[in-house]
Order: sequence, then structure tokens, then C-alpha cells
Amino acid sequence: MGEKKRRLAARAAGQSPHFGELIAQGLRAREAGDLEGADRAFSALLSRPPVEPDALNASGVLGLRIGRHADAEKLLLAAIARTPDEAAYHVNLGIAYRRLGKPALAVEQLQSALNLDPGVAEAHANLGNVLLDMGQVLAALASFERALAIRRDYADALNGLGSAQRSLGRFASACENLERAVAIDPSFHEAYSNLAVARTAWAVQPEPSSDSAPVPVADQNAKLGLEAISTALRLCPENPVYWAQFADGIKHFDLEYPVGGSLRELLSRALDHPAVNPASLARPVSSLVSSHTSVAELRRQLSAARTFEAVEWPAVKQLVADFFGEALLLRLLEDVVYPNALLERVVTFARRATLREILDRQSPSLPLAVLVTIAHQCFNAEYVYDESAEEVSGVERLSDELLRLGNPENRAALHWYAIYASYRPLHSLAQAEQIAGELEKTPLRSLAVRQIREPLEERRLRAEIPALTGVAGEVSRAVQTQYESNPYPRWVRAQRNFVPNSVRAVLGGLFPLADLGGVVDGPARVLVAGCGSGQHPIDTAQRFRDSSVLAVDLSLASLAYAVRKTRELGVKSIEYRQADLLALGSLPERFDVIECSGVLHHLEDPAAGWQVLCSLLRPGGAMRIGLYSELARAHVLRARQFIAEHGFEATPEGIRECRAAVFARADDELLAKLTRRQDFYSMSGCRDLIFHVQEQRFTLPQIAAMLERLKLKFIGFELPEGGSFARYRDQFPDDAALCHLENWHRFETASPDTFQRMYQFWTLKPV
Ligand SMILES: C[S@@+](CC[C@H](N)C(=O)[O-])C[C@H]1O[C@@H](n2cnc3c(N)ncnc32)[C@H](O)[C@@H]1O
Repeated sequence: MGEKKRRLAARAAGQSPHFGELIAQGLRAREAGDLEGADRAFSALLSRPPVEPDALNASGVLGLRIGRHADAEKLLLAAIARTPDEAAYHVNLGIAYRRLGKPALAVEQLQSALNLDPGVAEAHANLGNVLLDMGQVLAALASFERALAIRRDYADALNGLGSAQRSLGRFASACENLERAVAIDPSFHEAYSNLAVARTAWAVQPEPSSDSAPVPVADQNAKLGLEAISTALRLCPENPVYWAQFADGIKHFDLEYPVGGSLRELLSRALDHPAVNPASLARPVSSLVSSHTSVAELRRQLSAARTFEAVEWPAVKQLVADFFGEALLLRLLEDVVYPNALLERVVTFARRATLREILDRQSPSLPLAVLVTIAHQCFNAEYVYDESAEEVSGVERLSDELLRLGNPENRAALHWYAIYASYRPLHSLAQAEQIAGELEKTPLRSLAVRQIREPLEERRLRAEIPALTGVAGEVSRAVQTQYESNPYPRWVRAQRNFVPNSVRAVLGGLFPLADLGGVVDGPARVLVAGCGSGQHPIDTAQRFRDSSVLAVDLSLASLAYAVRKTRELGVKSIEYRQADLLALGSLPERFDVIECSGVLHHLEDPAAGWQVLCSLLRPGGAMRIGLYSELARAHVLRARQFIAEHGFEATPEGIRECRAAVFARADDELLAKLTRRQDFYSMSGCRDLIFHVQEQRFTLPQIAAMLERLKLKFIGFELPEGGSFARYRDQFPDDAALCHLENWHRFETASPDTFQRMYQFWTLKPV
């Protein structure tokens, strides 16, 4: 026999040690973390694939282990073509299809495996995983239970069962099963992550504080949740979802010095991670800073004095420098609006003292890096902080001096630019573009980008955004004017979603007991009506796999910000148009999903706007609505009354005056509550929160009546924190689907803060 024939025969008989050795080599390399080595072995296998079914299957398994799923699919299909009745091959092909995002094919393969042998625990567990991905929580739960009936200590199935139970709000059994999973397999990071989700959803979160001394989170579940996600991150730091979850878990924690090296490391990495919304880290970092002994002294001195004039700068400047000595704080202030009253006081005071130093020709006491950070924060807050008349004229002088000074490369001038940037945006200077070119070569580069390049880019983008409709009526025009001056929300970085799913699967996960019959499972066409500054449609586009989004808004300034951020993030599936949603009725298109959050309550006739949106939703489509709650906004009503009494105007000066007056009324519980709201700490946020030109509020019975008129079916709330769901379940155990609006009204009446961030809920249009 010739050499070629002999090799072929050996392959056909599956006797070549070659394949076994390559597979073992690949698996060993994978185990040792040598992904390149594993990949080399796998590529060698592919260059001369085996023909013997077991070898094909084993090669496929190696492909799955190293993430070469499409190649694994081919190998497993070849194995099945040769031996169709081997259940294990079908299980592995089912896993490959799941990872390739082909859930229907995965279900088919796993069911074939079970037809061949119903006793294969892996087939049940993997079927459960696919069903869970598809949002079929109850069916998934049954599959995991079957797997566990066959194999009691099966970590994968315990993990799946725990996740399904968590979706159904059965937190105690969810945590028990997830804990068993990690006890069986301590390297099972996915189970740690699911455990963190379950613990965090079960936790009762404390009220947000704006300027409090550290109050450790009392809830044991919150602590265990944070521990679990920290373990998941240690085991698998490259998973972006875990970083987002870590930030979500730690956001209610108040920290104190000393903070352990590993927690500091996690915080610091989280701050830079693209999956993380850095705003989630504001509370832990601000409490950490507040716990510093020198900060307590600074707080004492600043609060003891009635005015800043009474505070001696030389006596406190070291304390201020210490305040900004925390690296986590400096990093954070660049990217968020920092909702903290103490920080605002320190920044306002430091800015004022430094301006005076500069105008008096003294060298500034604070390092340039701190001044740059202060400028970022003032810009993020849109200069909402208090300014004295002396400062206003001082900044005018400074602007003249900068004009005369010319060359920003001059080292001393950098301090001047930084302090100007903490009162006014640098793009307000004459010849801003030229200044940007110069500053970009200096430590003020980030300021040149944020305060000159980006705003000028937005100005250019306005001309590129097409209009879809005109503006319908006086109220729309007034609302438009407000958002042209103050686009909302104010954001720099948001949480990114790296695991998109179909609309049906997302809603199935949120509302496991809802009948989602007509909801789209494939590519979805989505309308975001009133998309604001882009955070909302970007979030939606990343959430729904294969979606294409039409995002409309009245405000060109908001749309321009949105377009810039969307491009920066590389999101390609959103088209932005200027439109009034009231005029969208003539649009010929019908949408699978419509989202309209924080918008309808700003219309003159919210029901009319909602009706227009309903006419654009296809039968079986899903609609997410966000509306203000009358009960949750008692403090806003109080503020609106306070504003009317004092005659504060909706101008930057009026808003600053109003804020100063609110800070001075710590005795008024409702007004003091405003100072704990994120929106209070930026100009746009504050205007949106308490100075809105048009706002209505609703109760749940009113919403129920509107839903009935619109023939929309309510399927449930989406709440940022799960804690309310847990408490609701305890009170209304018979409402397993959590969608009885009368019960929710009773619940809200007893806990009026439940819907502080609006009622956010999903509805369906009957088929
Ligand atoms: C509070 S913001 C909410 C933005 C976004 N939905 C979110 O949740 O981040 C309200 C937005 O609705 C827009 N808006 C208000 N009335 C509108 C209308 N009639 N048609 C289109 N957009 C409108 C405003 O311009 C503003 O950008």
C-alpha cells in the first residue's frame, strides 16, 4: 500500500495517534491559558481533519473550548453525518449553535439528543440554558430540574436553575442553588456573577445621600452580592459584563479609609472600563473621600463660616489639596456630573480662591492637575455652581487677559486657561479653534477636546440632521426652546451593554409570566420618540440584537450631542431625525418596538401623543413608556411652589440663585430631598427637574385608565433596583406576574419613593 493510501486508511479507522495528540495538546494549552498554543493545535487539526466520528467530536469540543465555534459546528456536523445516533454529538452541536447565536437550531439539536437518550443530564441543562437565553424562563426551569434529577451535584444545572429562579423572584432558592454551584466548582465565574445578580436584586438599597458621613450598607445581600461579583472578576477579569455588574453592585456602598488594595484596584479599573457607567462609582468614591480626617476638618471650616469670605484661604488650602489627593476622585470628576454637596462647596471655594490668586499675580496654590479636574467638573455641571459678582467681573478680566496673552503654551498661562475653563467653556473664547490646537500639546489637552473640539463638532453636526416633521404647536415650541439651551440628560460616559438579545428574549427575561406571542424574535425596527442627548437610543440599540433604531427629538442641540456620542461609540444602527412626535402620525412605517421615556408628560396633551405612538406600533408590538409619578414628585411640586414664591427665573443666574436658596433650607425636608437628586447638580438636570416649562404627573389609576382606552396590555415595570419587586412580592404573593396596577398603587401609596425615577413600564399591542 502506498503512503497516501496507508494514511487515509489509518484516518478512516481513527487509529492515527496524530489527532488524539493534537486534541490533547490543544486542551492542555487551553488549560494552561496558552490560547495561541491551543489555537495552533486546533488549526493543525483543521488542516487535516479527522474522519472518525469520535475524533471529529473531540476536535469540535476543542473548538468550543477555544471559541472557534463556527469551525466546531462543521466538525460536529461531520461527526453526526457519520454517526447520527450519538446523543453527545448533538449536545455539543447544540452548544455550538447557542454560542453562534442560533437558538432555534440549538434547541433542535438538544431535543434530538434527548430523543436518543432522555437520561443525558447535559442535554437537559444545555436546553435550559438556551431556553433561558430565549426568555422562556419557566420551560428553562423545568429543564434544569430534569438535569438535576439525573445528576444531583451538577454545577451547570444549578447555575441555570438559580438564574431562572432569580428571574421569577424566588431569591432564597436562587441564592441557595447558585451557592451550591460555586461550592462544587469554585472556578465557575458565571455562577458567581449570577449569584451577584440575585443577591443584589434581593437587597434593600439605602436612600441616595448627597453629602453624608459614611453609612455602611446594612443589607447583607448587597454585601454578599458585591463579594460574589468581585470573585467573578478575579476569576475572569476580561468579561465586560462583570465590570458593569461590579459598578452596579457597589453603587450603594459608602466606603471608608483604608480601602483594601484589591478593592481599590477593582475601583480604579472599573473607572476606566468602557462597560461601566462611572456615575455608579460616585457614591463609593465620595464617601471614601469624606471619610478622610482632613476632609472632616475642611467640612467643619466651610460649614462653620456663613460666607466663603469668612474662610481664610491660607488656612484651608492644604486641606483642599488633600481633598483632591484621592486619585479615584480626580479620575471620576472628569467623566461624571458628581452629585455631592460637599464637593460642590469645595470646588466653588477653590475656584474662587484660585481666580483671586491669578488676578493678583500670585502663583496658584493648587497643582495644575487639580485645576484641570475642577474645570472638567464645572463644565460637566454646566457651570451651575454659585458665582459672586466679584467672580463674574474677575472672569471677564481674565478673558481679556487671555486674549492679550496670546500663547497658551506659556506654562503660567495654562493655569489661567484652566481656571477660565472652570467658569466658562473654552469655546466661548475668541479664536477657540486656534487655542484648541495649542492646548492640545499641553496638559490641558483633555479640556481642549471636551470644551472646544466636541462642542464645535456638535455645532457642525446640527446642519447634517434632517427634519422629519415640523413643530406642532406652542407647547412643543416652548419645550423645544428649553432643550435647545439645555439638552438632557447631561452625560459623558454611560454603561455599555455587551450582550444584546432579541426583543422577545429581553422581555421574556424581564417578564417571565407574560404572554409575548406577537413580540418580535428576530431583527427589530425600533422608534425612540424623544431620544434626548442619545443615552437612551444608544442603550436601546445595544440592548436589542439586530435592531435598527429611528430616534427623533425636537431639539437639534440634543440630537447633535447624540449623533456625536453615537459615532464616538461606533454604534451604527441609529438614524436621528428632528421631529415632533405629535406630528408623526403620517409616517407610513410601523414599528416592532416603541420607546418613549420622560417625554409624554411634557406634552400639552399626553394622551394624544400616546395615541399617535400607538398608531405607529404594529399589532403584537411592544411599547416602553416612562411617566412622572404624582406621588414620587411631592418634593418637585414643593420646589416649583418655592420657585414661584421667590420668582426665580429659568436662566442660569435664576437657577444658581434657586439652588443656593434650596441649600440654605436644610430644615425643609422636601426641599432638602432635591439635594439628593442627581439632576440637581447640573444646569440641564436642574432645569429639567424643577424649572420645566411643561410638566404633568400621573397616578397609577390614571395610567390604568389610559391603557384601557389605548387598548394596550400592561406587562410590567422595569425598575432600576430590584428591591421594590422583592417587597411587592412579599405583600402581594398572589400577583406572581407583578402586573396588578391596583396593588402597585397601594404599594406606592405606602412607599412613595418607589418610582422616583418615573414609572417605567412595558405594554403590548394585541395582535
Ligand atoms: C427628559 S428628556 C428624555 C430623553 C430620553 N428619552 C431619556 O430618557 O434620556 C425629554 C426629551 O423629549 C423631547 N421632547 C419633548 N416633547 C417632544 C415632542 N413633542 N416630540 C419629540 N420630542 C419631544 C425633548 O426635546 C427632550 O429631549
